[in-house]
Amino acid sequence: SSTRFYDFKIQTLKITKLCNTKELVTVNGIFPGPVIYAQEDDRIIVKITNETPYNTTIHWHGVRQRLSCWFDGPSYITQCPIQAGQTFTYEFTLVNQKGTFFWHAHVSWLRATLYGAFVVYPKPGVPYPFNYPYQEHILLLGEYYNKDVVQLERATIASGGNPPVTDAYTINGHPGPNYNCSNNDVYKIDVVPGKTYLLRLINAGLNSENFFAIANHKLTIVEADAEYTKPFTTDRVMLGPGQTINVLVTANQPIGKYSMAMGPYSSAKGAAFQNISAIGHFQYLGAVTNSVSLPAQLPSFSDNLAVKTVMDGLKSLNTVNVPKEIDANLFITIGLNVQKCQSKTPNQNCQGLNNGVMAASMNNISFIKPPISLLEAYYKKMNGSFTEDFPGVPLKFYDFVNGAPNNIPNDTQALNGTRVKVLEYGTRVQLILQDTGTVTTENHPIHLHGYSFYVVGYGTGNYNPQTANFNLVDPPYMNTIGVPAGGWAAIRFLADNPGVWFMHCHLDIHQSWGLGTSFIVKNGEGVLETLPHPPADMPRC
Ligand code: C2O
Repeated sequence: SSTRFYDFKIQTLKITKLCNTKELVTVNGIFPGPVIYAQEDDRIIVKITNETPYNTTIHWHGVRQRLSCWFDGPSYITQCPIQAGQTFTYEFTLVNQKGTFFWHAHVSWLRATLYGAFVVYPKPGVPYPFNYPYQEHILLLGEYYNKDVVQLERATIASGGNPPVTDAYTINGHPGPNYNCSNNDVYKIDVVPGKTYLLRLINAGLNSENFFAIANHKLTIVEADAEYTKPFTTDRVMLGPGQTINVLVTANQPIGKYSMAMGPYSSAKGAAFQNISAIGHFQYLGAVTNSVSLPAQLPSFSDNLAVKTVMDGLKSLNTVNVPKEIDANLFITIGLNVQKCQSKTPNQNCQGLNNGVMAASMNNISFIKPPISLLEAYYKKMNGSFTEDFPGVPLKFYDFVNGAPNNIPNDTQALNGTRVKVLEYGTRVQLILQDTGTVTTENHPIHLHGYSFYVVGYGTGNYNPQTANFNLVDPPYMNTIGVPAGGWAAIRFLADNPGVWFMHCHLDIHQSWGLGTSFIVKNGEGVLETLPHPPADMPRC
C-alpha cells in the first residue's frame, strides 16, 4: 500500500448556470471537486486550506475511519469547523475498504456544491467478481440552488416552514436540456458499440432521493455503498443522498444517442419538490449527434414499489458474518414533528404546520449540535455539552401491536437535547429504525458514521418482532439505509471502532431539524482497540 497526498484549497468559484451567476464553494476551482483515487489499505493525507469566508469541514463518506475518528469530519461531532484562512490535514487509512465513496462538506448546507468522488481500487492482483469492463465513469448526482445555500439553510430554519425546492438536478454538475439555458450544459458519455461500462453512481444531492435510468438499457448492480453485491439486473436504481451504487451497462442497442435521466423519489405527502429530470447523454460512436432517443423512463415520483424492488435486489456477494447474538437492542423512531413556536412575531417565523416550527427527531429527541465537538468533550472529559441518556426506546409510548405509522408515537412535542448513546467496546448492536409520521411518513436515508452495518430486515408498517423476517445469510453491508416510508429497517453491527459516531438522516434539511443522534464507542483493552490522541492542528471552536 502507499500514501496519497492531496491538496484541497476550498475556494469560491463564479459560475453561470440556469441563466444565473453566483459564487459557489468548491475545491481547487473545479466543480464537482477533484476525484481522489487510491487503492485498498492506502494511507490518505488531504491538506485542507480554507480560502473562503465559510466555516467548513470535509467528511469522507463511507470510509469507516478505523481508529481515526478525529478525521471523520462532521462539524461539532468530531471536530470544530475549519475557519476562514485556517488549514487542517486529514489523515486516515482505508482499512479493508475499496469501492465507490465520496467526500463532502459536513457543515451547514455547504455540501450542495462542496463534494467530489473518492474511488478506491482493489489491491493489485485482486480480481473483481465480474469481468472488468471496457471503461468506467463516475456519475455524481446532485442538486443545484441558485441562491447561497448557507443563507438558504438559515432562512429555512428561521421560517420554521418547509425547505426550499432545488432549482435543478444535475449529473456531474450538469442539469441538461430540460432546464433553462442548459441546452449545452449536458453531461455526456461516449460509448463504443458492444462494450460494457462500469458506472459509479453517487447521490451527492442535498435534500432529494433520486431514481436513475438509461433509455433502453439494463443496469446490473454489482456494488452498493462500496461493498460487492450479487449481480442484480434492473431498469433503474434509486439512491438516497449518501448512497453509492456501481452498475454495469452494455452498449448493446442499435447505434444511437440515448438519454440518461435522474429524477425525484418523494414519498412525503404534500411536500413540494423539483419534478424536472436532469438529463445526460449515453452516446454511441457513430450516432447521429442531433437525435436523442426517447427519454429514459423513470418511475413516478411516489413509486414506493420501484424502490422496494431495488432494495430487494441488494444482497451481499458472499455469505457474511452477521452478529447473531445481540447485546444492545435499540428501538429508534425517526420522523418529522412540529414544535410550538416560541417566536413573538408568529406569522413571520412560525410557518410550519399549525403555525408551529418544523423539527425532526429520533426517539422524540431533536438533536442539537453542541458548541464544541462531542469527541473533544468526551476525550477531555469536559462536562456540560452533552448527556449520556439517549433512550433505547422512544420517550413516548409505543404500542407494538396496535400502533399505525401515522399515529406512533405522538412526537409533536419532541424535546431538544444533545443526548448520546454510550456503547462498550465490542457490543453487538441491533437498531430497529421505525419511521413515524406525525407530519408525514417518508423514506429517510439514515447514515451511520464509523461503521458499515448489515441490513437484516425491513418492511412496511410498524415493526412487529413476531412477524419480521430477517436475512442473516447475505444481507447487504451498507452505510446508509433508506428506511421505507411508514416502515422500518433493522440493522446490525459490531461496535469495535472507538470514538464518537454521528447517525443522521442524510437529507440535509432533516439533519438541520435535528434528525440525528451520536454513539460513543468506548475503548477496548489493546492499542488496536483504543482511540489515538488528537492531531496537533485540530481546529478550535
Ligand atoms: Cu455523508 Cu454525516 O454524512
